[in-house]
Formats: sequence, structure tokens, C-alpha cells
Amino acid sequence: MNVDGGHYRTIWLKESDNRVVQIINQQVLPFKFEILDLCTLEDMRRAIKDMYVRGAGLIGAAAAYGIYLAALEAESFAFDRHLLKAAAVLKNTRPTASNLAWAVDRMLSKLLCNSSGAREKIELARIESQRIAESDAEACRHIGLYGLELIKKIAAEKTKGPVNILTHCNAGWLAFVDYGTALSPVYAAFDSGIAVHVWVDETRPRNQGASLTAWELGGHGVPHHLVADNAGGYMMQHGLVDLVITGADRVTRRGDLANKIGTYLKALAANENKVPFYAALPSSTFDFTMEDGLKEIPIEERDEAELRFVHGKGPGGACGTLQICPDHTPARNWGFDVTPARYIRGLITERGICAASEQGIRSLYPECFTAGKEIPGREQPEETPLPKEKLWQ
Ligand code: MRU
Repeated sequence: MNVDGGHYRTIWLKESDNRVVQIINQQVLPFKFEILDLCTLEDMRRAIKDMYVRGAGLIGAAAAYGIYLAALEAESFAFDRHLLKAAAVLKNTRPTASNLAWAVDRMLSKLLCNSSGAREKIELARIESQRIAESDAEACRHIGLYGLELIKKIAAEKTKGPVNILTHCNAGWLAFVDYGTALSPVYAAFDSGIAVHVWVDETRPRNQGASLTAWELGGHGVPHHLVADNAGGYMMQHGLVDLVITGADRVTRRGDLANKIGTYLKALAANENKVPFYAALPSSTFDFTMEDGLKEIPIEERDEAELRFVHGKGPGGACGTLQICPDHTPARNWGFDVTPARYIRGLITERGICAASEQGIRSLYPECFTAGKEIPGREQPEETPLPKEKLWQ
């Protein structure tokens, strides 16, 4: 997407040296736009673990590039062993989003059990990591096209005012390689001239809504307001929200959704107030091996410092960190929660919109249900016949 007139993705190979991965440093947004060079597996591990890159699709692509960087470091006599170790290191960084493990496994399936020499395997790793990044961006672009139809319908039913969409956390282009999931339909609607307005949940404790979603919507010119996390229920009671769209970190085969902490409360409020609640995700976010999200999805518990301190810009313009509770207050910081499928009106995917149910998901991804708990077809998105419309140049 555009940053000050230039086109950027969130992750790419450096033009002058394709042994280096470049990322937008999300730790310093919105106050500073900074590009970082990552040259080693350890660089990538830290970038994912410490959230220089974040968001389900982006950490998937980052992990794929992490395997490429590991391949560059591997001694040819212990190549596969090194990759297996790298895979374990990367999978350990962030547990909740399925995209990460999915991307690592896809890289391994191409690189292990392959009789080529080390040099060919490195090349294969480079090509495959780029394909993963490319297909993430393409999937998100198509999510935008399908979500656009939904927004068009709501716009047609409204007699006045813009379509008001509430979103939680950041599931925009910064959370993927490009376009985003929850925000991709918003950009598509805005670009095609539909009046849209976004309510941006601040998303405590890390404030990804305030710092990232607000930044990217502002950059694209989409009208929006930042709201307190707890305001959603009030706004829905007063008819201020037409549609909720969130991203997803993992969705089970039955349609249960793990997403940023607080999503469940938005879904409850939306159902109580008859506001349609949708989640948008590429197929790499499905976990077809899981059924019951509440029992099975691992929830990342993050450092209590994220709750005890806030980061921001002071009146003089200097950035800094402030403690917001007494010195020794202990805290618990769950990063995600699970919204049961029954609260979700639909899932917006790169293959279309389906019900959040086994039947609905099966109708779009039949190949993933053919062999019980196995996961055939998890690489299928590339083969998905996608509509050809082009919304963005
Ligand atoms: O902890 P983060 O910032 O990596 O959180 C993940 C997310 O961005 C959200 O949960 C999002 O809504 C879904 S994934 C883009």
C-alpha cells in the first residue's frame, strides 16, 4: 500500500542483496517510519518474538523468510538438521496464529526430502518464501473484493450516512504482506467511492488499533475515529455501528475464531444488538486439525510489562514509556481470546464468504475435509481460481 506516495509491502528481499530481508519496523510506528535489514535467523526470530513484525499473515511470511535465512547459514553437510532446528526456533516465537506454523511446514515440505545440493536448496527456499509472501498478498486482495460486496449491500440499504465499520486490533496491510484482511474490504469500498467510516478500537494493551490501524487508515485517507476498547457496546446500542469486521489468528474447522483479546466481547455485543459480525482471513489462518477453539487453541500469554507501561509521544514530541500502575502491581496479559462460531455471521476468505460452521467452511475448502484430521490441501490457496478484477494498480 502507499506510504507518502511510495508503494510498500511489509516484508521483501532487499533489491541490492537478496540475502537480506527488509521489514517495516512496527515497534516505532506511528511516530517513525523505519526499514530494518534482517540478515540471520536470529534477526528474524527477534523480529517476530519482539513484534517488529506482527499480525497473522505477516508473521507467516516472516517465518518463511526466516527459513530462507537459515538455509543461507546452513553448512551443506548438516543442511536439513539446521533447517529443522530453525523451524523449531521460529515456531516457538508466537503460538496463537496458525499462519506461522503453516508457513514453516510448507517451507520444510519443499526443502526436506529433496536430493538437490545446498545451493539449489537455498534457491528453492528463496523462491518458496517469496511465493508464500506473494500468495498472502493476493489472498488479501481477494478478501477485499468479496468483502466489498458485503459493504455495497449495507450501503444500498442505508438511507443516509457512511457505512460504519468497527474493527479491533490491526488486521490491515501492516498485519499481512499487503492489503490486509479486515481492512481490505474497507480499502476496496473506499477506492470504489462508497462512503465508509471506521471505528478503530484502541486495542489495549499494545494499542495496535491506535498506533497501526489509525496510521494506515489515515495514510489511505479513509475517514475514521479512534474509540476506547470498551466503547463498542455503547456504540452498537445507539446504532452507530453497521458492521464489525475483525481479523483472525486461527479459525478451527468448525468456525471458532481466535483473535486479539477483546474480540469475544465485541462479538457478544454485536449479537445482542443484531449488528453483523464478520471475521476476514486467508486460508492459511484455518487450522483444519482443530475443532473446538476454546479447548484446543493455544493462547499466547505476553509479558506483563505490556499492561503496566504505555508507550507514546510526550507533549514535547519525544517518545517514551510511562508506568500506569503502582510499582509492584502484578498483571496477567492474555494476547487472544476465542469467539465461538455461533456469534460469527460469516467468514470472508479469498474464496468467498461462508458461514462460520463446518458445513460453511467445507463448502469453500472441500479438499481440507477429505481425510479426517489430516490437512491435505493446506497449500491450496495458490491453486484457488480467483476473480480477475483489479482494484489497486
Ligand atoms: O499480537 P498481534 O499484534 O500480532 O495480533 C495479531 C493481530 O494482528 C490480530 O489479532 C488481528 O486482529 C488478526 S491477525 C491480522
